Amino acid sequence: MRARGGKDLYRQAAEVLASRRNAVALTGAGISVESGIPAFRGSQGMWERFDPAEYATIGAFLENPAKVWEMLSEMLDLLVRASPNPAHRGLAEMERMGILRSVITQNVDGLHQSAGSRKVIEYHGNPLELVCIHCWKRYPSLEKIGERIPPRCACGKILKPDIVFFGEPIPWIAQEDSETEARECSVLLVVGTSAQVMPASGIPRIAKEHGAFIIEINPEETSLTEKITDIHLQGRASLAMERLMETLRNGAA
Ligand code: APR
Repeated sequence: MRARGGKDLYRQAAEVLASRRNAVALTGAGISVESGIPAFRGSQGMWERFDPAEYATIGAFLENPAKVWEMLSEMLDLLVRASPNPAHRGLAEMERMGILRSVITQNVDGLHQSAGSRKVIEYHGNPLELVCIHCWKRYPSLEKIGERIPPRCACGKILKPDIVFFGEPIPWIAQEDSETEARECSVLLVVGTSAQVMPASGIPRIAKEHGAFIIEINPEETSLTEKITDIHLQGRASLAMERLMETLRNGAA
């Protein structure tokens, strides 16, 4: 049952977080929009410019790595210059307050770690490492930036960023850890995800089935909002998180 109106929703959300604690956050591209990194879907999204069938599947990468690397270099360039916004910082503070136990992120931008979050599960990998598609040797991305596209391993084969393309499995440790977090948390804070991509989109349902209270922060309604979400804080991540943190600091905690 979704809370609507009545007692201030931020106060209700803060009270649930402060009393239950043991919260986990699931984040998506929307949390980093205000750090200058576009989301994937929607009118300003990456997939408006780059067809995911041509740029985001492992098949497309293997078929034409140079083409996919053009998009990846643009993305890496944006990521290395981005800094965390108040939403990332709010989650890090919530962890320090002993309310949040972990962040599961679909993002590959590293901004939760930059903001100070300590337990971060990177569900879709991390592009700061490149891995050879042939011999699996790994390299720090920074070592290869500026080299020819596509970057190559010492063995001569193509390097792929260590992120999950469509058609690739989720790193099993990330999947296992996320499912454990979803089963064991008392509150799930879902921030800035359209929840359209499996298996990450299944995490809120696992949490709900195991008794978690679901708080969603998103300017839009998603497939979760009507069915799973208990409180929808409708707004941009940075403003919503600032208001939630202020309420938590001012007493609900
Ligand atoms: N604050 C909070 N949420 C926002 C903001 C904002 N400022 N701006 C946009 N959003 C919301 C949108 O309303 C949308 O629901 O963020 C969500 C972004 O959705 P997607 O672009 O689908 O991103 P995400 O859910 O992370 O995508 C999942 O899809 O293509 C793959 O691998 C990619 O990890 C990604 C996965």
